[in-house]
Amino acid sequence: MKAITYRTYGSPDVLQVEEVPNPTPKDDEVCIRVHAAEATKSDCELRSFRFPVNWFWLPLRLFLGVFKPRKPILGGYFAGEVVSAGASVTRFKPGDRLFGSTQIRMGAYGEYLCLPAHYTLARVPDSVSSEAAAAVPLGGLNALHFMNCAGIEPGDKVLINGAGGSIGSFAVQIAKSMGAEVTAVDAGFKEDRLRHIGADHFIDYTRTDPTQQGQTYDVVLNMVAQSDYSAWVNTLNDGGRYLIGNPRLSDMLRAAITNRSTRKKVTVKLAGETQKELETLAEMIKAGDISPLVDRVYPMTDAGEAHRRVETEQRVGCVVISLRD
Ligand SMILES: NC(=O)c1ccc[n+]([C@@H]2O[C@H](COP(=O)([O-])OP(=O)(O)OC[C@H]3O[C@@H](n4cnc5c(N)ncnc54)[C@H](OP(=O)(O)O)[C@@H]3O)[C@@H](O)[C@H]2O)c1
Repeated sequence: MKAITYRTYGSPDVLQVEEVPNPTPKDDEVCIRVHAAEATKSDCELRSFRFPVNWFWLPLRLFLGVFKPRKPILGGYFAGEVVSAGASVTRFKPGDRLFGSTQIRMGAYGEYLCLPAHYTLARVPDSVSSEAAAAVPLGGLNALHFMNCAGIEPGDKVLINGAGGSIGSFAVQIAKSMGAEVTAVDAGFKEDRLRHIGADHFIDYTRTDPTQQGQTYDVVLNMVAQSDYSAWVNTLNDGGRYLIGNPRLSDMLRAAITNRSTRKKVTVKLAGETQKELETLAEMIKAGDISPLVDRVYPMTDAGEAHRRVETEQRVGCVVISLRD
């Protein structure tokens, strides 16, 4: 099969298309013909081995490969079609269109992928193309996780910092579907599209500091790394919730203190990315509550360009790589 590989850590230029052996499913696995995979910020961070927060650098390097990547095929989130299933798989059958997460296995940048049937996989709603479906699992699962952690009540004022990204664009839609009044924060050129998917208010962070507007919120989801902890906690109402997508060690320590000493609650919990949550997202798509925001779709041969677009942040929503002609 063809796969987009990286044999060394580095710039988007290290991505190449090469022939690699097809994977074979074990008894409990499904073999999926991948149609499309999201090019995520995390893929770019793994490729370059540069992260906005560094406390997990050493264990991650040992896991991924000290001198060169141990797993040369990136890709954690995808959509495709089951082509065969192991003897003990009853949940899926050939022909089923699935989307999901490969968890730490990665490998969704290859034409074929084998995953245990109990992984976070669900059927793609009929109305959604594979390219759009590939944009759902990362952003949708993480946004749903954070919005559930926030315990949103109808009428809550919710601010999403980094609203134009993969996770933020779903968080805007999910918070709206929960009845919140949503403020989106991102670069000014993304305003129209963010209002279109439901943002009630918009702040252009390149012109205005969103923490200095004299506004307070019931919930703040912050997907932007290295943010000013105190400034954001100060924007919360009494009893407000602050969710940090990219916590530093110092944020975790300060969160413990805030949670003990005030009525505000700070959450740094990673998403579990469960099957049940992915099925909930499929139902939300069918109900019209959310829809993936796809910025551009690139062919396999332009994977480097796809990563460049993710890294230079000129996009609104998700960048997708198509793995079919
Ligand atoms: N905690 C978790 O469970 C979890 C899970 C997955 C990923 N992550 C991490 O979360 C991060 C972001 O996730 P993502 O995939 O949603 O990223 P993303 O798609 O790159 O979105 C980030 C958005 O924030 C905007 N932005 C940049 N600087 C900003 C600022 N100062 N103020 C407001 N907006 C700003 C960017 O726009 P412009 O740069 O164009 O202005 C972009 O639209 C990644 O580093 C990833 O590793 C965490």
